Amino acid sequence: MTQQQLTKSEAIAALRWYQDIGVTDPVAEMPSDFRSAEFPAVAKFLQGGQVPQIPPVQNVPPSPIVDHDAAPVVSEPAAQPLGTAEASLDARRLAGEAGSLQELEAALNGFEGCALKRTATNTVFADGNPQAKIMLVGEAPGADEDRLGKPFVGISGQLLDKMLAAIGLDRETVYITNIVNWRPPGNRAPSASEIAVCLPFTRRHIELVKPDILLFVGGVAAKALLETSQGITRMRGRWTDYKSDGLEKAVPAMAIFHPAFLLRSPAQKKLAWQDLLAVKKRLAELQG
Ligand code: URA
Repeated sequence: MTQQQLTKSEAIAALRWYQDIGVTDPVAEMPSDFRSAEFPAVAKFLQGGQVPQIPPVQNVPPSPIVDHDAAPVVSEPAAQPLGTAEASLDARRLAGEAGSLQELEAALNGFEGCALKRTATNTVFADGNPQAKIMLVGEAPGADEDRLGKPFVGISGQLLDKMLAAIGLDRETVYITNIVNWRPPGNRAPSASEIAVCLPFTRRHIELVKPDILLFVGGVAAKALLETSQGITRMRGRWTDYKSDGLEKAVPAMAIFHPAFLLRSPAQKKLAWQDLLAVKKRLAELQG
């Protein structure tokens, strides 16, 4: 169906879909031809880009951004939080007491305040190099991550690896975690209380790694860590300062599109590529 053939209600549904995924700007900042790729890795990343289309209304994707590749999405209710206020206090205390990444991981493994842990196979802590200059923070593990106990190892992770490779990075030169350490059942989005309970661990994680650059992979991570309600389309590509009591100085941070979103909306890869170039430039500046 072409855009002209949409009925009024279909057009409204399509607009709602854009609103749900955070599209707030109708045009990009600048016209660009990003298909003339400089490097093979870039070409690979851009491969599959298409002219923007309003998605078919009958296939409206769910707003969660976690990997949907390995298991069908089933509608399961959010797991009941185990007394969120108490669990949050416990999380803060445990995370604050952790003086190293090993201690933080052990604290998470012993933490029973997040109901997601009961349905998950593994606690997904991190992957990559904790000495790396760049730390990426995603949303929540999907089925593959839950099975393997590592973040971004499913289809989204494969695209993330291509995105990193396009600017000369890999899992030896980045460190990756999520704001939620257990898989939400049925690949639903983590609830606000699940995010709140896990957040002290993520904040401590960042304090212990002390990265030079922070990348929030997707709007959910960016909103939680920056305590904002802005949509990803507004936030992406803009440097901001990430601050935390346990950090001596603010960390330059940027939100980028989540690879799961790019898989659904490949035309947005050109904006993602602009953001990656900005990251590459900032890294080069850091290296002097
Ligand atoms: N999506 C995420 O946000 N994190 C993962 O680890 C995998 C998919």
